[in-house]
Amino acid sequence: DWNADNVIAEQVERIRAQIGSAKVICGLSGGVDSAVAAALVHEAVGDQLTCVFVDHGLLRKDERRQVEEDYAKSTGVRIVTVDASERFLGALAGVSDPEEKRKIIGREFIRTFEQAERDLVAEAADAGEPIRFLVQGTLYPDVVESGGGSGTANIKSHHNVGGLPDDLQFELVEPLRTLFKDEVRAIGRELGLPEVIVGRQPFPGPGLGIRIVGEVTAERLAILREADAIVRAELSAAGLDAEIWQCPVVLLADVRSVGVQGDGRTYGHPIVLRPVSSEDAMTADWTRVPYDVLAKISNRITNEVPDVNRVTVDITSKPPGTIEWE
Ligand code: XMP
Repeated sequence: DWNADNVIAEQVERIRAQIGSAKVICGLSGGVDSAVAAALVHEAVGDQLTCVFVDHGLLRKDERRQVEEDYAKSTGVRIVTVDASERFLGALAGVSDPEEKRKIIGREFIRTFEQAERDLVAEAADAGEPIRFLVQGTLYPDVVESGGGSGTANIKSHHNVGGLPDDLQFELVEPLRTLFKDEVRAIGRELGLPEVIVGRQPFPGPGLGIRIVGEVTAERLAILREADAIVRAELSAAGLDAEIWQCPVVLLADVRSVGVQGDGRTYGHPIVLRPVSSEDAMTADWTRVPYDVLAKISNRITNEVPDVNRVTVDITSKPPGTIEWE
């Protein structure tokens, strides 16, 4: 029988054997895989591990705090945060095309991470303790997918934040290589990780950057972040987290419609809710969220989020629609 304790004990032993007394680094994305991989390595070698967390400014409300405070507190992992929001916003200025955004975000992410890596490597080398290992949260399905040329068309370039630099100078530590997602979550819970991280629904590496249809700006990100936080809170409060695979919240930044609020005319943006039910994200059906939950979300968003005067629900399955709008 599969047992989280046994897997943890086994992996801790393996990691110790591989790393010895060397230094190791890990990139955290805010997602469950890198968080659990890092926690396992920390369990094995303690402060020989340093984590790098790149804040690209495209995170959801509270995500940075959840990593820096909740996760760090519960694991003891040392985290170096790089605040790169300005850099990403600068690089994204004037760009509306979805694939162009993905390329820019992917490129800037790798550059930012590599710079942080170089700084840490230099610092460690000065202290006479070179960093030789890099932790990756690779899961079993990732191993299978990248090994087998399945020949499926690449519809969107799925850049997973934390991608490997080209001139890799590290030996990889991949403690999740034999595991499935559910098993990774079980291990994370056993290690005492916060539920917001362990139970997190899928969230794309390019973050809110591909949920603003149109150019990404700081103002638009602020609007979307508020609307998204309301949606997540209300769906959770209604007990729908298990039924919903994920619920992208999309800002149609280039669309405006006329509304009326109080005794004034408004000319604001629509928000799209995209709740989907799915097994693996390859196909999906739109989730039949109860009307009263939708009503509450709609009321709250139009009352609480400036510049949004309409809330719509996407009722397209996948195919033909993809889960994300970009
Ligand atoms: P689509 O929109 O293709 O999404 O139906 C399928 C799943 O993949 C996620 N997704 C991404 N994840 N980088 C990621 O790391 C991306 O660029 C990206 N695009 C989509 C999406 O959230 C869904 O879970």
